[in-house]
Amino acid sequence: MANLFTNFAGIKSPNPFWLASAPPTNSGYQVMKAFDTGWGGAVWKTMGVPVVNVSSRYGGVNYRNNRLIGLNNIELITDRPLADNLREIEEVKKRFPDHAIIASLMVETREEWHQIVRDVENAGADGIELNFGCPHGMCERGMGSAVGQEPRVLKTIVEWVKEVAKVPVIVKLTPNISDITRPAIAAREGGADAISLINTIQSIVGVDIDNFVAYPIVDGKSTNGGYCGPAVKPIAMNMLKNCAQHPNVNLPLSGIGGIENWRDAVEFILLGAGNVQVCTAVMHYGFGIIREMVAGLSQYMDEKGFETINDFKGKALPNVLHWEDLNLKYKVVASINKDKCIGCQLCYTACEDGAHQAIGVLHNGDRVPYIKEENCVGCNLCSLVCPVEECITMERRDDATEVLSWKERTLANDIPTTFNDPRGGGVHHPVYLPNEAFETPKPVHYKA
Ligand SMILES: Cc1cc2nc3c(=O)[nH]c(=O)nc-3n(C[C@H](O)[C@H](O)[C@H](O)COP(=O)(O)O)c2cc1C
Ligand code: SF4
Ligand code: SF4
Repeated sequence: MANLFTNFAGIKSPNPFWLASAPPTNSGYQVMKAFDTGWGGAVWKTMGVPVVNVSSRYGGVNYRNNRLIGLNNIELITDRPLADNLREIEEVKKRFPDHAIIASLMVETREEWHQIVRDVENAGADGIELNFGCPHGMCERGMGSAVGQEPRVLKTIVEWVKEVAKVPVIVKLTPNISDITRPAIAAREGGADAISLINTIQSIVGVDIDNFVAYPIVDGKSTNGGYCGPAVKPIAMNMLKNCAQHPNVNLPLSGIGGIENWRDAVEFILLGAGNVQVCTAVMHYGFGIIREMVAGLSQYMDEKGFETINDFKGKALPNVLHWEDLNLKYKVVASINKDKCIGCQLCYTACEDGAHQAIGVLHNGDRVPYIKEENCVGCNLCSLVCPVEECITMERRDDATEVLSWKERTLANDIPTTFNDPRGGGVHHPVYLPNEAFETPKPVHYKA
C-alpha cells in the first residue's frame, strides 16, 4: 500500500503535493481550505514589504479548444501587511499541525532578511523559501530574478538567511538564465537545504492587433510578465533534470511548472523531484484537483510496487544521456495500421513537406497512405501528427545486436570531417531531384 508521506529536506507533509507561492496561498482562509481538501503543504504567497499591484494582471494563451495552456502574470509579491500574514500562518499551523507551511520571502537588506526570517519562524513556518525567481516588477528593484541571475549575490543572501534560520531553507530559482545549475550550485555553497524550480518565464503572451498593445493591458499600456502553466512543463523538467544530474548541486529538489495531474507529478519525481508544487492548475480548476492527484499517485505506486516516493525518485535519470552517447545503430520506421486509419492524410502532408517524403498516397481512391521504408528515417513526425491513437507506430528494424555511439565513432576516428565526407548520415538516403517538385502526382519512381 502506497505511503505518500514526504520528508522534503526535513519538512514533513502528508503527501508530496504543495501549493506553490501564488494567489492560491494568499490568505489563511485559502490555505485552510486547501489543506482540508487534501493538499499536503503550502508555500505562502511571497512576503516582504507589501506592494501595490496594478489592476489588470493576467494574460492567457489559449490553444485551439484549450483555455489557458499558458498563463502570464504581472503581479508582484503580497500586498498584505506582514502582521496579517503572520497571524494567519499561526492560525493555520494550529489547526493543521501535520501539514507543511513554507514561508516564501523576498526582501532587500541583511537586516530585513534577519528580521523576516525570525518573524515567520515565530509564527510557526516549517520552512522558508527564498523567492529569487520573480521576473517582473521586483527584479527591476534588484530582487527576485535579479538575484537568481547573479550566483554570487544569491550565495551571499542565502548566507545571510542561514545566519539566523533554524528551519530548512529552500532556494527558488528563476528559469530566466542559460545554465540553471550555476545558481543551484551557488545556493548549495551558500548553505541552502533544498532548491525549488521553476518560477515563471519572462514573456509576452500576445498583442492586441487593433490597438497595438501587448496583454495584459493596463490603461492602454503593458509590460512583460511571467509565464507558467502546462506550456512550461517541458522547460521545467529539463531544468530539473539538469540540477538532479549535476554532482555539485546534490540537494533535494522541489519540482514546479505546469503540473496539473498525478501523471505530471510522477514525471517530475522520476526526474529527481522529492515533491511538487502547483499554481496555475489550482488557479484554473480549484483546490479539488488534489483528490484525483492523490488517488492517481497512490494507484500508480501500488501498480508499480513502490511503497514510498523515494522508491521511484530519479528513476528516469540514468536513461537521460548526452546526445553523443545514444545508439546510432538503433533504427525504427513508421508503420500504419490500415484498420485504424481514417484516411485524413495528415501524415502524408507532414512527411512530404516537413520530413523525408517517406509516405505515399495511392491515386485509386484508397485514402490509406503507405510507408516507403527506404526513405523513412524514423523521425516519429507522422506518428505525432496522426489524430488516431496507436494508428501509426514505430517499429524496430535493427536486430538489437549492435551499439555504436557518436562518441565511440569519434574515438575511432570514424566521423565526417569535411563538407563532402561520404561518412555523413544522409549520403545513401534517397532524396528526390529538385525538378521533381513540379511533378503531379509526386515523383513517379516511388509510386507503389
Ligand atoms: C499570478 C501568479 C503569482 C505568482 N506569485 C508568486 C510569488 O509571489 N512568489 C513566487 O515564488 N512565485 C510566484 N508565482 C510563481 C508560481 O509559484 C510558480 O512558480 C509558477 O507559476 C509555475 O508553476 P505553475 O506552472 O504550476 O503555475 C506566481 C505565479 C502566478 C501565476
Ligand atoms: S494521419 Fe493517421 S489516420 Fe490520417 S491518414 Fe495518416 S495514418 Fe491514417
Ligand atoms: S517517421 Fe518521419 S520519415 Fe518516417 S514516415 Fe514518418 S514522418 Fe516520414
